[in-house]
Amino acid sequence: MPLVPKNIKELTPYKPGKPIKEVQRELGLDKIYKLASNENPLGPSPLAIQAIEKNLSSSHRYPDASGFELRMKLAEKFNVKLDNVVIGAGSEGIMGTIMRTFLLSEDEIITAANSFIGFTVLARASRRKVHWIPMKNHGYDLEAMADCVNEYTKIIYIANPDNPMGTYITMKEFDEFYAHVPERVLIILDEAYFEFAQYLDDYPDSMYYRYDNVITLRTFSKAYGLAGLRIGYGFAHDQLITNLMKVKPPFEPSSIAQIAGYAALEDSEHLDKTVKLVHEELKYFYQALNQLSIHYLHSSANFVTTIWESIHQAGSVCQKVLEKGIILRHLEPFGWPNCIRISIGLHKENEQCIDALRTILRR
Ligand SMILES: Cc1ncc(COP(=O)(O)O)c(C=O)c1O
Repeated sequence: MPLVPKNIKELTPYKPGKPIKEVQRELGLDKIYKLASNENPLGPSPLAIQAIEKNLSSSHRYPDASGFELRMKLAEKFNVKLDNVVIGAGSEGIMGTIMRTFLLSEDEIITAANSFIGFTVLARASRRKVHWIPMKNHGYDLEAMADCVNEYTKIIYIANPDNPMGTYITMKEFDEFYAHVPERVLIILDEAYFEFAQYLDDYPDSMYYRYDNVITLRTFSKAYGLAGLRIGYGFAHDQLITNLMKVKPPFEPSSIAQIAGYAALEDSEHLDKTVKLVHEELKYFYQALNQLSIHYLHSSANFVTTIWESIHQAGSVCQKVLEKGIILRHLEPFGWPNCIRISIGLHKENEQCIDALRTILRR
């Protein structure tokens, strides 16, 4: 069809993890465990659920387009001004707004090849030249990214921690990189897994930097367990935020999402429980994967990425585990054909996953 632009025709559609209901139907199994989409296995905070229920009857009203209350709450929590905070329909929603706000037709983008698929899709759809820098040791090659900066570079996107590898860039790496990036270039630091990574000594929490050309993106989808509501937030210089707010779809995020986010921020107990679970269960996985002689990458997020001998082995293990009722993520569509990502679930779910792997591999 001639009206569809070439870059959109050539775009590979995003393949989400298989929904639980679909797997149940296909395999006729009662119990399915989904360890595929880096969600919070504990669910949303009970305070967020209460707030949602209490406010559902106001759903006939449009949301507050300025997002005042949630932005104010975030400003207080992170010690910045209201004018430094943006909220959106997930951090991906904010990424889309960033692209629409700041990119001119000749501008170019730099990012890593095979990093977060959501940004990959946005970059491909943007009709801008994108420099995809291969990863080094399963992490961002910041030196190569800095070397690639030219007079047209406008946006550099970095997911820290990265999804799907779970690796992170260190303070030292970031500092060296930042010194080579001109101030006219906007750096998007996507910290979707910040809550899990912040305990690492050398993790560069971008809120300490507050550079004028860095925008920090965070989300309620992971540690806060609100992925289905689509709510994320970002921090940046007030001039960047003012202009993002002009372009952002005015009524995103929804009122329920804003209210749930607000309540989730008040529930530090749920957040602590989530982070503790993920850290404990990561240790469980490392130990069990070592015993099974399965290669994996140390993770700074809420998933562990395993490495297999071939695309064939990874595909077949994923399928066999699925037949036992556990949905994992074969990373072939993400550009890592011999990798499988396992999202951290409840201990019982993780044990089932390890048992399934043990049986399949006969180890
Ligand atoms: C690195 C990264 N950024 C952003 C997102 C999306 O977050 P949101 O649900 O807030 O759009 C994800 C989700 O998987 C992610 O892995």
